Amino acid sequence: MLSYTLSTQEAIQLEEKYNAHNYHPLPVVLQRGSRVFVWDVEGKQYFDFLSAYSAVNQGHCHPLIIQTLIEQAQKLTLTSRAFYNDKLGEYAQYITQYFGYDRVLPMNTGVEAGETAVKLCRRWGYDVKGIPENQAKIIFVKGNFWGRTLGAISSSTDPSSRKGFGPFMPGYEIIPYNDLQALEQALQDKNVAGFMLEPIQGEAGVIVPDEGYLKQAYQLCKQHNVLFIADEVQTGLGRTGKRLACDHENVKPDILVLGKALSGGTMPVSAVLASDEVMLTIKPGEHGSTYGGNPLACAVAMTALEVIKNENLAENAAQMGEIFRQRMKAIQEKTNIITTVRGKGLLNAVVINEAEKKDLAWQICLRMMHNGVLAKPTHGNIIRFAPPLVITAEEMHDACDRIEASFR
Ligand SMILES: Cc1ncc(COP(=O)(O)O)c(C=O)c1O
Repeated sequence: MLSYTLSTQEAIQLEEKYNAHNYHPLPVVLQRGSRVFVWDVEGKQYFDFLSAYSAVNQGHCHPLIIQTLIEQAQKLTLTSRAFYNDKLGEYAQYITQYFGYDRVLPMNTGVEAGETAVKLCRRWGYDVKGIPENQAKIIFVKGNFWGRTLGAISSSTDPSSRKGFGPFMPGYEIIPYNDLQALEQALQDKNVAGFMLEPIQGEAGVIVPDEGYLKQAYQLCKQHNVLFIADEVQTGLGRTGKRLACDHENVKPDILVLGKALSGGTMPVSAVLASDEVMLTIKPGEHGSTYGGNPLACAVAMTALEVIKNENLAENAAQMGEIFRQRMKAIQEKTNIITTVRGKGLLNAVVINEAEKKDLAWQICLRMMHNGVLAKPTHGNIIRFAPPLVITAEEMHDACDRIEASFR
């Protein structure tokens, strides 16, 4: 390991030379973080308006989460599930009571939790609903994103996620998002076991469905004895101004998928929550993960959830989101660069008019970086803005001033 700090150029060159080229980052090398701020290797401070794709809702290096991490790391980190550990039971009770479910199945990354939800749903389809063997279907929506495994990209409609990676998993049906008629039609098939969606599509560019869509989609699923699976890996844990994005419509998913901020950005921790009827279909030896439910993750997740509740982060996200969208709409009126401002809570996006310049969104992100705000385009001309939920009104205005200067 190096004993000195690399310069921006040196760090980038090392990554370019030795790392896989599976990302296209902004040219900034971060070294330190606290709350809504990160610092680069040259000591420059930035507002982090990506929050590691919503994994650091609680802010960078939240002192209570770090304290739990250190204390538990000094005691016990991993036992595997071959033995019991003294944290998993406590965590399982904590998280199930927090969200009102019978049981949890702990995993690590978001995509593993998604895979777990799909497996649970298929198993429920066979064992409880009575779907003939190997005939279970799961409905997904266009533009969905739940990770990069073969199971996840098999449901993707994004060519850059799929090209050159086939063959894909069977048993999926893809319908348009925000289209209840399409859902009702797809549900006519008796072999449908589940409907899985993000309540707001994150990676697709913060696509918010019509009000009432989630509620009616849920009711349709109930009418057809189909599980409603909410992927709240990005939208959950306060991000959209409620504890869960489904809470905006008082929908309680049959299977709830969580990840990212479940550890406040310290390690991969994900979870699947469901009823006894669904969860107990999986028996010992049928699913698992070496790191799933490890004591370090369990301790950290309890504190991460506690912070969201005790610091009223969902409420703050709702209020700060209003300020952000107002400020962006004001810029939209003054310039012709922004075509749309949308989002809920602190999950927002601004669509850039690229009619005159193809990579304008990227150029704006570079300019924002120069002005001390980090954000990144998704799907070319959409810039997602998702700061940590601990941001204050004063900080939000400061960041918006910098964003406005960049647009100018
Ligand atoms: C909605 C959603 N689900 C699942 C995932 C996958 O999470 P992970 O990258 O931790 O596997 C993501 C990641 O961005 C996501 O946004």
